[in-house]
Amino acid sequence: MLRQVTATRYVTPLRSGGSVPGVVEADDEGTYVVKFTGSAQGRKALVAEVIVGELARALGLRFPELVLVGFDPAIAADEPHQEVRELHAASAGVNLGMDYLPGARDFSPEIAEVFDVHPVEAGRVVWLDALTVNVDRTVHSSNLMLWPTLGVAPPRLWLIDHGAALVFHHRWGTTDPAKAYDFRHHALGHYGPDVRAADAELRPKVTEELLRAITDEVPDAWLADEPGFGSPEEVRRAYVEFLHARVRASGDWLPTDFPSRDELAAENARRAARTRRDRPDWLKRVPDLHGKPAAEQDWSVHLG
Ligand SMILES: Nc1ncnc2c1ncn2[C@@H]1O[C@H](COP(=O)(O)OP(=O)(O)OP(=O)(O)O)[C@@H](O)[C@H]1O
Ligand SMILES: [Mg+2]
Repeated sequence: MLRQVTATRYVTPLRSGGSVPGVVEADDEGTYVVKFTGSAQGRKALVAEVIVGELARALGLRFPELVLVGFDPAIAADEPHQEVRELHAASAGVNLGMDYLPGARDFSPEIAEVFDVHPVEAGRVVWLDALTVNVDRTVHSSNLMLWPTLGVAPPRLWLIDHGAALVFHHRWGTTDPAKAYDFRHHALGHYGPDVRAADAELRPKVTEELLRAITDEVPDAWLADEPGFGSPEEVRRAYVEFLHARVRASGDWLPTDFPSRDELAAENARRAARTRRDRPDWLKRVPDLHGKPAAEQDWSVHLG
């Protein structure tokens, strides 16, 4: 089950997030990014965060710990913005916290230009997103972070923010579990994601038992009052049934026509040759980082 903590200090709102999550410290001495139940995205976004995030973890993808955070708006009484205070007031009680990764960087298009992601890792992420119909992992809104970015350990890719996944739960019963996934703008599409390898590796792991255990972690209060359902348990069953049907239909939605790594390398080489030819002499002295594996790149230039 998700651990429960109580927020003891409100640090700051994260205004870069559409739902204005808050950074808080808690009574276990941890620091968390809190997604509030009172946000415009609503409780379903939190349900998606729990189900998809815990699925990612169970499949071995890097995803920060989730906790349930008891939040008393009184600890954020100094918050100067009225709309943020209103969000807090509407969120008294249990909210969702994600372990805060200190110093993490958003995986932006600029970083994507110089950071190498292995096709197997990219394939796993795309596969998870296709399974959970996550429409919010695009080049410009990657919901991926690099961490750590200081010290000697190499930065790794971490998944965050699955609030926009499970789109089928906004219109229960109208989505075909075999529906194809639109992956054209996926944040990792340029890395030649090996989704076939991911499918072979991950599909057998997504069992009904796993899905049941994961949906059990969602608090009842976030599943209550769902129109058309008699109880939180019924809603959980609907998630399990849909995802289990979808995983069995992976042959129908598996996005497979990404360019291969070799095709991409050839394309990059062509582009680099064109750029070199067209570069003025003074620019030819500037090293070209494109196409180099991450290990050979000087990170401090881009992340310092
Ligand atoms: N665990 C974390 N550690 C460090 N920074 C984080 C973490 N989670 C989120 N952030 C930062 O906060 C930003 C907003 O977070 P997130 O995308 O989860 O919020 P959101 O309200 O769902 O945003 P949106 O709906 O706009 O995508 C991230 O882009 C990232 O910069
Ligand atoms: Mg986001």
